[in-house]
Amino acid sequence: MRIGITGTPATGKTTLARLLSQALKHELVDVKKLVKKHNLGNEVDLNKLRKVLLPLPKDVVIESHLIAEIKLPLDVMVVLHASPRALKRRMKKRKYGPRKIKENIEAELLDYFTIYAEQNYPRVIHIDTTGLTPRQLLKKTLRYLKEGKSDVINHEKALLEYALHNKI
Ligand SMILES: Nc1ncnc2c1ncn2[C@@H]1O[C@H](COP(=O)(O)OP(=O)(O)OP(=O)(O)O)[C@@H](O)[C@H]1O
Ligand SMILES: [Mg+2]
Repeated sequence: MRIGITGTPATGKTTLARLLSQALKHELVDVKKLVKKHNLGNEVDLNKLRKVLLPLPKDVVIESHLIAEIKLPLDVMVVLHASPRALKRRMKKRKYGPRKIKENIEAELLDYFTIYAEQNYPRVIHIDTTGLTPRQLLKKTLRYLKEGKSDVINHEKALLEYALHNKI
């Protein structure tokens, strides 16, 4: 199966991709490594990236925030989500600066990855990672893939709080 994983930075894409590729014995495609190897730059040229990634192996897990914006022949695209509060915590732990934290939280609140993934991929599954350990997230993902389930993500309340009171 060809599985993509995308979503806002710090939602846990790399963590899940490693676990999922091991559990399913699928190849893991490291997009970050390929971007470096092929010198695709900081503002990655998505057309070039697509050409570098194709053809995809038959059984693969490929993860990147970049793949939401391109069309790849995936059987399913998994979009990871987390509450803005959880994202902020994870990014602070990673020592992200305030600008980067704000940018990424706004991307999550505005459904940036959802919009692109649903535009580019016929089968999209959404998974809320809030409060889950990586192992629990793996279990949930395997179950959702098998049963064709998806979470309904609704950041409306958080978005309103953020817009009116600048609170996360
Ligand atoms: N389920 C989880 N619960 C709490 N923290 C997590 C979880 N999964 C990952 N993390 C932590 O959050 C941070 C981000 O995880 P990870 O690197 O997997 O995210 P990512 O989506 O690949 O981010 P990026 O887009 O920047 O590559 C890491 O410090 C990781 O240890
Ligand atoms: Mg990552």
